[in-house]
Amino acid sequence: MSTPASQSPPAPSMVWSSGDYADVADRMIPALGARLVEIAGVGAGQRVLDVAAGTGNAALPAARAGARVTALDITPELLQAGAQRAGDAGLEIAWIHGDAQALPFADAGFDRVLSCVGVQFCADHRAAATELLRVCRPGGRIALIAWTPEGFIGQVLRTISAATGASGGPGGPGGPGATLSPLSWGSESGLSELFGSERAARAVVCREHVEMPAASAEAWVDYMAAAYGPMVRARAALHPSGAWEPLRECLIEIAAAHDSGNGEAFAARAEYLGAVID
Ligand SMILES: C[S@@+](CC[C@H](N)C(=O)[O-])C[C@H]1O[C@@H](n2cnc3c(N)ncnc32)[C@H](O)[C@@H]1O
Repeated sequence: MSTPASQSPPAPSMVWSSGDYADVADRMIPALGARLVEIAGVGAGQRVLDVAAGTGNAALPAARAGARVTALDITPELLQAGAQRAGDAGLEIAWIHGDAQALPFADAGFDRVLSCVGVQFCADHRAAATELLRVCRPGGRIALIAWTPEGFIGQVLRTISAATGASGGPGGPGGPGATLSPLSWGSESGLSELFGSERAARAVVCREHVEMPAASAEAWVDYMAAAYGPMVRARAALHPSGAWEPLRECLIEIAAAHDSGNGEAFAARAEYLGAVID
């Protein structure tokens, strides 16, 4: 498979508004936000920030737990969908359009700073980590869920990056933090680079997984290529030269290798790292 020359990356909001991310979150990771709220120890009355919140996968359960929630994202379409959901559920959440690399909040303003497979897709990973630390109050907690490099989505993202020539992974190309990649957020060594070795050594981490259902490995890849922004963009970029088909075959192999194998319907087992950083 030939690797096209690198081009300047699309704006992240263009990546994440391609396809139908709201549907991906509902089908593939419906329980992940609630799990993050649980590991973060979110409680009533806390000031909680959900960074790269998308449609509110973590923000909604945090609000349900009685927290005062702010949800920030760079993609207006996802914020609008999240606000609609919150309204339908009678939950009050402040939806802020902004960049995780330059958060529009004062220092130390939040008791809990969350990100569910979100901030790992920023371009400048160091800037984003610095911002999470800045807005979290002393004694507060940062809690993250991130795809691991060796897990299913880690392998998918790396394979797409290699095929498209994106330097830092889909949705998170180069930039000043280019020695890091989206998958740095999913390993202890990456957390150490992002947050410093002392803080990372105190972090409480867990490795867990979600099961991503589809009719088959092929159906999973075809669904994601129509709905998951980074894959939608990869398919659009590679299809004209005929390079999408070989990538699709590779992704189907990866998906099949992660079938949880319960003998019934296909479900890909996707590992993530949960981390709580004080
Ligand atoms: C995989 S989605 C995760 C969304 C949500 N947290 C969830 O659990 O469904 C990644 C999100 O990161 C957001 N994002 C990417 N770069 C960003 C940036 N620089 N600042 C804020 N949000 C960003 C995208 O708009 C998208 O909503």
